[in-house]
Amino acid sequence: MKVLVIGSGGREHAILWSLSKSPLLTQLYVASGRQAMQNLATLVNIDIDDPIDVVQFCKRENIGLVVIGPEKQIINGLSDSLAAEDINVFAPSKAAAKLEAEKSFTKELCKQYGIPTAKYGYFIDESLAKNFIRNNKIRCPLVVKANGLAAGKGVIICNTEDEAFSAIDLMLVEKKFGKSGEEIIIEEFLVGEEISFFVFIDGVKTTVLGCARDYKRILENNKGSNTGGMGSCSSPLMMSKNMEQKIIERIIHPTVQALANMGTPYRGVLFAGLMITKDGPKLLEYNVRFGDPETQVILPRLECDLLELMLSITQQKLNINTVKLNNTSTVCVVVVSKGYPDDYKTGTVIKGLDQIEGMHDVLVFHAGTQRDMEGNWVADSGRVLNIVAYGKTIEEAKGKVYSALSFLEWPEGFFRYDIG
Ligand code: AMP
Ligand code: GLY
Repeated sequence: MKVLVIGSGGREHAILWSLSKSPLLTQLYVASGRQAMQNLATLVNIDIDDPIDVVQFCKRENIGLVVIGPEKQIINGLSDSLAAEDINVFAPSKAAAKLEAEKSFTKELCKQYGIPTAKYGYFIDESLAKNFIRNNKIRCPLVVKANGLAAGKGVIICNTEDEAFSAIDLMLVEKKFGKSGEEIIIEEFLVGEEISFFVFIDGVKTTVLGCARDYKRILENNKGSNTGGMGSCSSPLMMSKNMEQKIIERIIHPTVQALANMGTPYRGVLFAGLMITKDGPKLLEYNVRFGDPETQVILPRLECDLLELMLSITQQKLNINTVKLNNTSTVCVVVVSKGYPDDYKTGTVIKGLDQIEGMHDVLVFHAGTQRDMEGNWVADSGRVLNIVAYGKTIEEAKGKVYSALSFLEWPEGFFRYDIG
């Protein structure tokens, strides 16, 4: 079977790597892929934001499955355009993708179905939003969020009333987040351990893939600005069966049921961002896709055939007994250009990757590189490399990933030393 993957990041590199092991695969394509993916897939020059272009390519090449990595194309409805042409697609519909596209949709669904989440208010009017806080409906610290997609930047944690008012002004008055921030959510600040939880859903049946921890801040000890992710780890000991059961019963099952009741069943992978509080698990947000960099630590632990699994989901034939992660632990360190998430230089030469790629129990997934005229790898983005290592324990995986990183020769690169 021919498979097309949409996307160009480290997550998509990991998906390609996992799909490439399938005996069902005849040819793998990627759009818009990177040179580093060329040993796994053929790079295709189509416009992934133009559904007609994607559909035409799939028909011409007789593609048996399309896998959409990033939220943008899912939320814009690429899955619907492909499904309308009877092309198998692993990604939810635009209607089901509202779980990520509109925070107010998810919060309302939580209210209706009794799904545990932070208490909240929804506002389009600045003075009503401020009165909500003045009247102590929710006390500080609290969180002000843009209702729409904001590339992970639309969440402001406010310790004082003044900070909250500034955040409200930023979104509703100054419109710093554009359309995404024209509607806002003000919610209670949840305290606990944050975890990324992944399930596969075929419209009706649900099975747990696993969970991972994501390190969002730029600096060690979770200090500094929020980023697209500075690392991740995954291990069989991260969550008890009892907690997993609670999450499924209280959060996942009611959501799957709610979407089915609305006539927009969910098909694909669902990523629940959770806070494990002293009162149990609470939903922070849903993402309608694999996480980045969580995928880079979860797929290396997958025991079953990813292609077979994805196909079964598109055909509503998910076998809930086949999904299994192995007992290894994995750690992923994201290497970024110095200065990220603010200003950074591109075009700087990266050395040492051949040596790292040859190491036992180590994988390299590229997120933002290209080759220069001399054939050197150079950085062309903020998030550039994902170095992943396996171990019997997180400690062992951590040891391997940092010893691999000691071979990296890239003075303009930066990474955290405390991942895992
Ligand atoms: P979101 O995009 O909603 O996941 O928010 C980004 C990050 O902000 C989350 O991963 C959390 O670390 C943090 N966050 C969001 N909402 C809350 C909340 N209600 N309480 C505490 N932290 C939160
Ligand atoms: N790691 C968080 C995300 O993929 O949104």
